[in-house]
Formats: sequence, structure tokens, C-alpha cells
Amino acid sequence: MHPILDRRASRWLAIVSLSAACARGGGGVAREPFGTTHRGEAVSVYTLKNAHGIELRVLDYGGIILSLQVPDRSGRLDDVVLGFDSLGDYERGSPYFGALIGRYGNRIARGRFTLDGRTYTLATNNGPNHLHGGVRGFDKVVWTAAPFERGDSVGLVLNYTSPDGEEGYPGTLRATVTYTLTNANQLIFDYHATTDRATPVNLTQHSYFNLAGDGKGDILGHVVTLNADRFTPVDSTLIPTGEIRSVAGTPFDFRTPTAIGARIDRDDEQLRYGRGYDHNFVLNKGATGNEPTLAARVYEPTSGRVMEVATTEPGLQFYSGNFLDGTLQGKRGVVYRHRYGFAMETQHFPDSPNKPAFPSTILRPGEEYRSRTIYRFGVQP
Ligand code: BGC
Repeated sequence: MHPILDRRASRWLAIVSLSAACARGGGGVAREPFGTTHRGEAVSVYTLKNAHGIELRVLDYGGIILSLQVPDRSGRLDDVVLGFDSLGDYERGSPYFGALIGRYGNRIARGRFTLDGRTYTLATNNGPNHLHGGVRGFDKVVWTAAPFERGDSVGLVLNYTSPDGEEGYPGTLRATVTYTLTNANQLIFDYHATTDRATPVNLTQHSYFNLAGDGKGDILGHVVTLNADRFTPVDSTLIPTGEIRSVAGTPFDFRTPTAIGARIDRDDEQLRYGRGYDHNFVLNKGATGNEPTLAARVYEPTSGRVMEVATTEPGLQFYSGNFLDGTLQGKRGVVYRHRYGFAMETQHFPDSPNKPAFPSTILRPGEEYRSRTIYRFGVQP
């Protein structure tokens, strides 16, 4: 779109030119302006619809999923993700609502790691630690976005080049993340990156869900199943100790369907450190090659909505929204109280650059970083 078109005209043009199908109510993609960052960058929102009425709205700022309308068991659509109405709210202090996370999902202890004999110092933005890529991670930059429509899906290709030294990381990292919404009610995230110097990379998506509908209370009644026999216990600053512990006999055993709230307030050191669930689960992997395997299933009994998560990643951060405390006001004026949303972040394990026994997160020149995660939506009677 031409930059000199005025705001109203450009908005109208974008909507009609990107997809006639979307305007007719079928699947498609539309684009509208969503404001300007404090740095003066124009931000757009893309609306993607599939053939069954699932509607996904994504910002090119941080790749943020703004809303996701999904049917309940009676076909009623509700927005099932937390977020804000304005760009300013995202910029002023979002707890990563809906955002793409990079270069490194979760924490790196004390913002330091040694790679090939050299020690790197990263931005620290979470007590003593580096969290979710630092002060200005991939969630706070504007990505270039290119929408697409195929026979059975719609999507958005997001690109960002992270300069050498950004937030302390070595090498220029070229990242591409593709969001695909299929007519099989899947939301697929494909991550790809290359680098010109060895660097840690661990990309993820940080949507907070409430399958009863955004703002409709806490998520403690959601019934979770995790395909994980083990998890990585943490210290009081949420850095893994290095131990890989069995979930058997602990409140971390979600191998059979269990309500999030069933054991969350138990007197357990790990639950105390996390203030609830805020832990990396080690996913059970069969001999599946590099295909996504089932990581999690979440069922919300009042709406009947079900979300399944499959991934090529070895880990899953299950976060029960423990740091939400009623101070944030979100979409439609909703107040986000304690545990009003949960996240299922597929990832490599936290602090892997300092844990040689964990699967490596180091990407080297000439290699390709590839990762795929699928959220599938459905209902259960
Ligand atoms: C982390 C939490 C953090 C949340 C929001 C999660 O991935 O594990 O500790 O509070 O993201 O930043």
C-alpha cells in the first residue's frame, strides 16, 4: 500500500484488495492499520478467517495474536486469548500477551553464557536473569508481514532480522515465522532462522488462553493432559537446577486429565517457586523423526472447547498465569485477575546455553533452525 494514501482510504483499500473472500464472510485475509509505535513505525493488524468461522487477528508488532475467535460446543464464537485493545498498552508493559518470543524463550541465568570460549553478557530484565529475549525482544519489534491464501488455509509470513549484538547476542539472525490457519481448525507456527555467527536460538509463541472466553474468570477448571513423564525443577529465580525429575507422585503429573486447580495450591517447593505452574515439561518423544508429536490437551468443561498442542520441540513451558494480579486491564475493559489465562509455550529447555546436558540451542552458520508447533481447536460434548 502506498504510504501517502490517507488513513481511511488505505484502510478500505487494504481490506478490499487483500481478500474479496474475507469480505464475503468466507475464509481470507484482511489488513487494517493498528496505530504507530512510540518510535514512529506503522503497525498493521491482519485478520485471517478459515472456512469454519475461526478468526485470528495478528499484529506485525511482535507477531502478537490479538484475538482468536473459536466456536464452543453450540457453535458460539468467543475470543479465547488475552490481550489489549491498543498498541500503547502492548508497548507500555504487556506480560508477552500473544507475542512471538526470541531470540530465547524463557530464562538464561544471570544473562550470561559462554560459547566457543567467549563469554557473552545479555540484557537482564527479570531479577538477575534474562527473560524472553531481553529488554526489547522479538515481541517488541515490527516484523515485515506477507499474507497468503491457499486452497485449504490462510496465513501470514513474518520476517525479522536481528542485528549482531542485539540484546547482547552474537551474530545477525534472520528469522521467519509463518502462521497458518487451516480449514482443519489448526493454527500452525513454522519457525525458521539462520545466522552468520554461532548463537543461542529458542523461538516460541506466548499466547495466554482462556477457553471459556477471554475475561470469563480464572482458568483453574480447565482440564489439562501433558504428554510428559518428567519436568525440569527450578530454583527460586525460576532457573532450572539441571535435574530432570519424574512427575510421578507430584502435582506435576498431568499424564491423566487433571484440572489445573486440583493441586495448584499444594504445599510443594516447586509450586511455591513458580507461584503455581511455571515449569518446563520434558515431552515424551517416540521414534517419530522430526514430526510434531502430541504435547498437551486442554479441555474447558463449560464451553466444551478443546485445544491440542503438537510440536517438534523437546519441551513445553506450562504457565498458569500466576503473575496476573488484577492490575492489567485488557480487551473490552476486562480486568486480568490471578490466573485468568494459561500459556503452553513449546520450546527448548530454559537456560540451555548454561546446561550442557540439555538439548543444544546453539545455531551455527550454515545450519537451519526449524521448528513447528500446531494448536488444534475442537469441542467435546
Ligand atoms: C515465564 C513466566 C513469566 C511469563 C510471562 C513465562 O514463559 O515462564 O515466569 O512470568 O512467561 O512473562
